[in-house]
Order: sequence, then structure tokens, then C-alpha cells
Amino acid sequence: MGLLDGKRGIIFGALDEQSIAWHVAEKCVEHGAKITLTNAPVALRFGGIQQLAEKLNANLIAADATSIEDLTNLLTESQEVLGGKIDFMLHSIGMSVNVRKKKAYTDLKHDWMQKTFDVSAISFHKLMQVAYNMDAMNEGGSILALSYIAAQRTFPDYSEMAESKALLESFARSFGYHYALKKKVRVNTISQSPTITTAGSGVKGFSEFFSYADKMSPLGNADADSCADYCVSMFSDLTRMVTMQNLFHDGGFSNMGMSPAILES
Ligand SMILES: NC(=O)c1ccc[n+]([C@@H]2O[C@H](COP(=O)([O-])OP(=O)(O)OC[C@H]3O[C@@H](n4cnc5c(N)ncnc54)[C@H](O)[C@@H]3O)[C@@H](O)[C@H]2O)c1
Repeated sequence: MGLLDGKRGIIFGALDEQSIAWHVAEKCVEHGAKITLTNAPVALRFGGIQQLAEKLNANLIAADATSIEDLTNLLTESQEVLGGKIDFMLHSIGMSVNVRKKKAYTDLKHDWMQKTFDVSAISFHKLMQVAYNMDAMNEGGSILALSYIAAQRTFPDYSEMAESKALLESFARSFGYHYALKKKVRVNTISQSPTITTAGSGVKGFSEFFSYADKMSPLGNADADSCADYCVSMFSDLTRMVTMQNLFHDGGFSNMGMSPAILES
């Protein structure tokens, strides 16, 4: 315990108790960090995140992650309330307009696709650019975003989110280079197993696929709680030389070829 003692962090994307970010926020505080929580203004109206903020004694600051103005305000206020520069940030944001509207991949609306990329991937670049230009991160800090293996392999129902994740992972590599030189700040993505959350369950056939991935992975699917443990280790100084990586947190799924458990069933 205490891996994050004295550290200050910002957690994006806790919507309800199922959200991966919800688990990460709880674990970071358990490990001694002080954090601010943030989400899009519309998400704050649901109330779930307010309870989390009270429980963790954390300030809640609304920010649309696509708005440079909101991100600037978030980083300014977070440094004020936490009492100094930031040590870690979690980008846990995903939304696809075409998936929501059930458009077939061969018939996507490209202005919706741009919105999807803006929310799910370009927001990550915006966040890092604002932090970089404000010099808001401490030396040796750690920035993470959550990804999915559809960035590398074809999962037909994941639709344009596959390209969003490819872009997200590429931003981690490219910005990771610049941030390492400037301040030894690390930037990585964690490629997580399918997880039962609002964003996850929005993908067509999610529950069948969840069981398939569980059988395919020798350790089973990684849940949100274990993902939170991995995030804590990535925010801690123990992983201070890890940067520009896409790290699979998937119970072994990504290196499997075939699974006897699936053939048998
Ligand atoms: N659930 C899965 O199966 C799974 C697997 C791998 C990766 N991921 C990724 O994990 C991350 C978190 O998703 P989750 O599964 O916890 O679902 P979730 O629905 O709980 O979280 C998604 C969050 O994005 C926020 N968001 C949407 N638009 C925003 C905006 N404009 N500004 C700020 N925030 C905005 C939502 O309010 C929500 O809190 C996403 O990047 C998702 O793609 C999820």
C-alpha cells in the first residue's frame, strides 16, 4: 500500500460504479494519492460521480475533453486544489456516434466519425498539449489512456472505435517521445479486456463476445478492479522507465491463437 503517497492526479471518465475510471479513482486514493475527478458536463448531471467525489473527498471539475478551454481550466483548478503540479492523469473516455446510431461499418457517416475521433482520441492529444504547454506535470509523471485490441486486429462490431484506438495508441507513442525529453513524463496506453460498463455494453453482441474472450484468455478476462491495480502500478515510481508502450491487460488474450475451451463448447 501507499504506492502513490504524496502524488496528485486527475481521473477522467468515472460515470458510475461500473466505469473502469471509478475503480482507478478508488485505488489511487487507497494508495495515498490526492485526486480531482472530471467528466463531461452532461455526465455530472447523473449524480453517480458526485457520490464518488464525496466518498473520496475529491473535487469534481466539469470538462468536455474536446475543449481546450475546459482542459486549461481543469488543469489550473486541479493544481490549485491539490496544491502543486500533477503527477498522473488517466484518460478513460470513449464514445462513438456511429456505434450509438447502429450504422453499418460500410455505411458510416464521416462527420459522426470525426466527432468519435475527437472525443475518443484527439482529446488525448489535446489534454497532453495543454499540460505540456502549461508545464502542469511534475518530473517523472505518468499519463495513461485506455485502449482495446481492435486497434491491431479486426473486431467487426467495434466499428470506427478500432481506428479511434489506433489513433489513441499512436498519440501515446508520439507525445511520449516529446514529454520524455521535456520532463521525463511517461505516456502509455493500457489495452484492456472487454469489461461490463456503459461504454463496453454499447457494442453490438457485447455479452456473447465477453464470454468468448473469457474462454479465449488463459487467465480469463481482466476486470475493472485488476485494471485499476495495473493503473496504480503505472502511476507509481516502480514503472518510471516504461513509456511509449501499448500494454496488454487481457489475461493473455492477445497472444492466443486457438482455445480448446472454445472448441469444446
Ligand atoms: N468496457 C470495455 O469493454 C473496454 C475495453 C477496453 C477499453 N475500454 C476503454 O475504457 C475507457 C473507459 O470506458 P468504460 O468502459 O469505463 O465506460 P464508461 O462509459 O463508464 O466511460 C466512458 C466515459 O467517457 C466519458 N466521456 C464521453 N464523452 C466525453 C467528453 N466529451 N469529455 C469528457 N468525458 C467524456 C463518459 O462520460 C464516460 O464517463 C474508454 O476509453 C473505453 O474505450 C473499455
